[in-house]
Amino acid sequence: ALVSMRELLDHAASNGYGIPAFNVNNLEQVQAVMTAADEVGAPVILQASAGARKYAGEPFIKHLILAATEQWPHIPLVMHQDHGQSPAICQGAINLGFSSVMMDGSLLEDGKTPADFAYNVDVTRRVVDMAHLAGVSVEGELGCLGNLETGEAGEEDGIGAEGKLDHSQMLTDPEEAAQFVKATGLDALAIAIGTSHGAYKFSRKPTGDILAISRVKEIHARIPNTHLVMHGSSSVPQDLLALINQYGGKMKETYGVPVEEIQEAIKFGVRKINIDTDIRLAMTAAVRKFLTENPDKFDAREWLKPAREAAKQICKQRYLEFGCEGQA
Ligand code: G3H
Ligand code: 13P
Ligand code: NA
Ligand code: ZN
Repeated sequence: ALVSMRELLDHAASNGYGIPAFNVNNLEQVQAVMTAADEVGAPVILQASAGARKYAGEPFIKHLILAATEQWPHIPLVMHQDHGQSPAICQGAINLGFSSVMMDGSLLEDGKTPADFAYNVDVTRRVVDMAHLAGVSVEGELGCLGNLETGEAGEEDGIGAEGKLDHSQMLTDPEEAAQFVKATGLDALAIAIGTSHGAYKFSRKPTGDILAISRVKEIHARIPNTHLVMHGSSSVPQDLLALINQYGGKMKETYGVPVEEIQEAIKFGVRKINIDTDIRLAMTAAVRKFLTENPDKFDAREWLKPAREAAKQICKQRYLEFGCEGQA
């Protein structure tokens, strides 16, 4: 059944676990997440980005997720809009039936230009006002995702600032976070701690200077009752990169967010962990391997099946690692 994000995150906070929020764009990804959740008894957050809505079309995104509630009626499921860039986009998602929306006012409507605090408060507050009337939860974001060594936002064509960011823009300030939560009344706060979207997050296995879990602790100490969200939280498994490259891919050396760092953050208020890239890597590795080993096959179902299975495995692993087992 569709539930609000607030309901799931309150439960996660009371019981000390975190929920991976998986980005979905198509049938196989939805099935992968749901099957994984069903096998371990986990609650589900399915999120659709603007890119997902464009790729699949709004009716398909909506009905793919609603189909999941029909096929797995016993699993509590949040239908969440990822990175809404304006109140109008969030209103559109609410009209479409989303039970949760993210108003990302850390950037202006172009999704590229860092916004100031007053703008962020204003747009987020407006979305909270309209969403709460409809029983819909709201995630806001304070701070800009970016690499603390290079000042780069990461992904070229995804959601992220253009040009270089200052060190302080990429680390959410605890005092500002407290003001932001108070001024907006949001349900969950995405924070910046050195992660970024996409596969190319860190040029080495991250240490505390480039992945600031200490900042999570400082923010949590200041606003212990606010549910925190980590974006850019794919772990970018080395074995998946190796498989992709073994079967004809050309991915460069890169590192993601280690699972043990996420587990530490979960002890300090992080309740929603956004994951897209790991599913992309898992599916790509599986398809490359299958087609290389089976050059005579041409039925799309035959290569989509191993891709779906690989996505399911990574989702199941994250549910177990973040403490979701038996929580639904
Ligand atoms: O926010 C970033 C997510 O990974 C979504 O990516 O905009 O390519 O769908 P996308
Ligand atoms: P990754 O690119 O690390 O999977 O992050 C996804 C995300 O934050 C979606 O909002
Ligand atoms: Na941001
Ligand atoms: Zn994100």
